Amino acid sequence: MATSGQRGGFNSKLGFILAAAGSAIGLGNIWRFPYSAGENGGAAFILVYLVAVVFICMPVLFAELAIGRATQKSPVGAFEQLAPKSGWKFVGGLGVLTGFAILAFYAVIAGWTIGYVGKAVMGEFSNMASSEAAEAVFTALSGSPWYSTALTALFLALTALVVRGGVQGGIERAAKVLMPIFLVLLVGLCIRSVTLPGASEGLSFLFKVDFSKITLPVVVSALGQALFSMSLGMGAMITYGSYVSRKERLPGAAVGVGLADTVIAMLAGLMVFPALFAAGGSPDAGPGLVFIAMPSIFHSLPAGSVIAVFFYMLLAIAALTSTISLLEVVVAYFVDQWNWSRRMATWGVTFACFLLAIPSALSGDFLGFQSVLFGNYALSIGALLICLFVGWRWGVAAAVAEIYHGLETRPLGGVWSALVRYVCPVVILGLIVAIILNSVFGLGMTF
Ligand code: TRP
Repeated sequence: MATSGQRGGFNSKLGFILAAAGSAIGLGNIWRFPYSAGENGGAAFILVYLVAVVFICMPVLFAELAIGRATQKSPVGAFEQLAPKSGWKFVGGLGVLTGFAILAFYAVIAGWTIGYVGKAVMGEFSNMASSEAAEAVFTALSGSPWYSTALTALFLALTALVVRGGVQGGIERAAKVLMPIFLVLLVGLCIRSVTLPGASEGLSFLFKVDFSKITLPVVVSALGQALFSMSLGMGAMITYGSYVSRKERLPGAAVGVGLADTVIAMLAGLMVFPALFAAGGSPDAGPGLVFIAMPSIFHSLPAGSVIAVFFYMLLAIAALTSTISLLEVVVAYFVDQWNWSRRMATWGVTFACFLLAIPSALSGDFLGFQSVLFGNYALSIGALLICLFVGWRWGVAAAVAEIYHGLETRPLGGVWSALVRYVCPVVILGLIVAIILNSVFGLGMTF
């Protein structure tokens, strides 16, 4: 594939779709989506989420991919090229910093999933009959400084080993192996869940929309969740887009990535809620849902301990293809802008990230703080600036030409332009204002 010299690139369109979908599909889908939906009224949340994906996130995804593919550069270099000698490169810089910081708390949660695979293999879930017992296990694991830190280090090391292998030999290859395993595990667990006696209550929670539940906090959480889930707002998709050859057609690939992420979030809901309701659990358990509520139901499921092993493997795999993309953004920055070797950039960034991860591994409060600061604030600010850049600085005409490069027609080009220029900036600005008001006045929105 003909991407510029040293940088490397994806070998095929399928390789790109799998890697980008792997980035998008992560703890956001399997861990955060179910508990956000559970806390925010189920079907009402899901409906708003779908609207946000179509009208806000897909346009932003196209914007990021266009910037990346047009420049074949990672975020800082890309902004520099499209808007020379301007402050826009700081948007790229903010993205790199955000990626680094998200990786530093995400890897801690990802580490717990490996710890839980270990517990599942050892059959420890058989004695987690009550949610009190499950909570005690979770507190013991996440509260153990050494264990939590070691698992974080392990997860970061696994991530680094893949990223060190380069775009084609590492990222694309890992995605091609991991994503099919992931899909098989997920579909299998969904079938098990929806066929349990008592599953129907979970299904109606997911699909029967109560319109009175669509409140401002629900809209804010759903939109924030959708941005995070599609890996938007920090240049991850700029970076992955920069590895796509200009011979490939972007629109189909981008739609494939957005669709995959959304379908997988829905499947995660189908996996968690029927099983949860069947076992009499409550959907609003918050962030502990998959670590506390799920373990306490495994023992009541037939072959529960085997299911538990698969469930946490699923989480770990989803997390790994996401941490890969977070690390890649930072590594690509040092490779592209500072001419570091990929090897030095990978291990240097990974080690620095581990240092920043330690406080999150030691304290749930610090982890939560990092998650709000970077997962909510920085990402939405980044997404806003990206829309403004593409809509008003680089220009929608150039971006549309890039997106539809190689195609004869430009379906929806005008709709996309209007969304990126007007709708997305206004809505995302509203999101930022809402999360600021929520932080200052405590409006009770949880993310
Ligand atoms: N989207 C991933 C998830 O759902 C997390 C993630 C990976 C991410 N790369 C990102 C989020 C870049 C925001 C930006 O778990």
